[in-house]
Amino acid sequence: MEVIVTRDYDEMSWVTGQIIRRRILRKPDSVLGLATGGTPIGTYKEMIRMHREEGLDFSKVTTFNLDEYLGLPPAHPQSYHYFMHENLFKHINISPRHIFIPNGMAEDIDGQCQWYEEQIRKAGGIDFQLLGIGSDGHIAFNEPGSSLGSRTRLKTLTESTVQDNARFFEREEDVPHFAITMGVGTILEAREIVMIVSGEKKAAVCAEFVEGPVTARVTASALQLHPRVEVVLDEAAASQLQHADYYRWVQQQKQQLVGMPSQVSFLRRPVRKSKG
Ligand code: PGA
Repeated sequence: MEVIVTRDYDEMSWVTGQIIRRRILRKPDSVLGLATGGTPIGTYKEMIRMHREEGLDFSKVTTFNLDEYLGLPPAHPQSYHYFMHENLFKHINISPRHIFIPNGMAEDIDGQCQWYEEQIRKAGGIDFQLLGIGSDGHIAFNEPGSSLGSRTRLKTLTESTVQDNARFFEREEDVPHFAITMGVGTILEAREIVMIVSGEKKAAVCAEFVEGPVTARVTASALQLHPRVEVVLDEAAASQLQHADYYRWVQQQKQQLVGMPSQVSFLRRPVRKSKG
């Protein structure tokens, strides 16, 4: 895994936006795997900015979201359909036909999960997967103990995830306890993965998944088995990494190389002049 330590949340979002921009410019019909939660909002803002200011074109892009709560209709303000529409899709020129999010209202849940996997296959697989991490180490809703070979399926959320997500709901009892989620095995089939992590609260779990053993207890640790993962994190999230100095050293060394595939990783966010 390539670990990229950025100064703060804004720089983490900017670097991730740049990585996505490059992928879309190289392959305009890229298939992107997208995530919800607080962490990717800054990245989505960057994508919107690049669309508005630089004309970044999403018309041929296809997206697959990682998960959706069971029982929430798309128009529910806490559904991930709604989240994606509000925070990204309505601001860019993506075709609604190219947007895939599991249907949390499906009557036949197993059928829905199989259909979702089939759509990913039909689209040619996911080129680029964006991920966040839960405080219990989950990727998507693959809670501790999930099979590292798991596919899209129904999952029961842990109590800690329900509590973490209660901040988005009026009352904790409103948080659904089930979700349809891509599996760890589904995620590992993406050609490239970028994990974004921000804040001190995630520092311990970050050290576990980057530097600890591969274990179903921390499903994000399965990313160690993937050949192309970039972990973009801010200083606070990196604060418990034992080898943080080495990761910074690697980025410094790479700045001296020309034509590195991941050059964008060590670009510094330009300081914007304030208007007026
Ligand atoms: P967060 O959630 O970005 O809101 O911290 C991450 C996750 O649970 O995957």
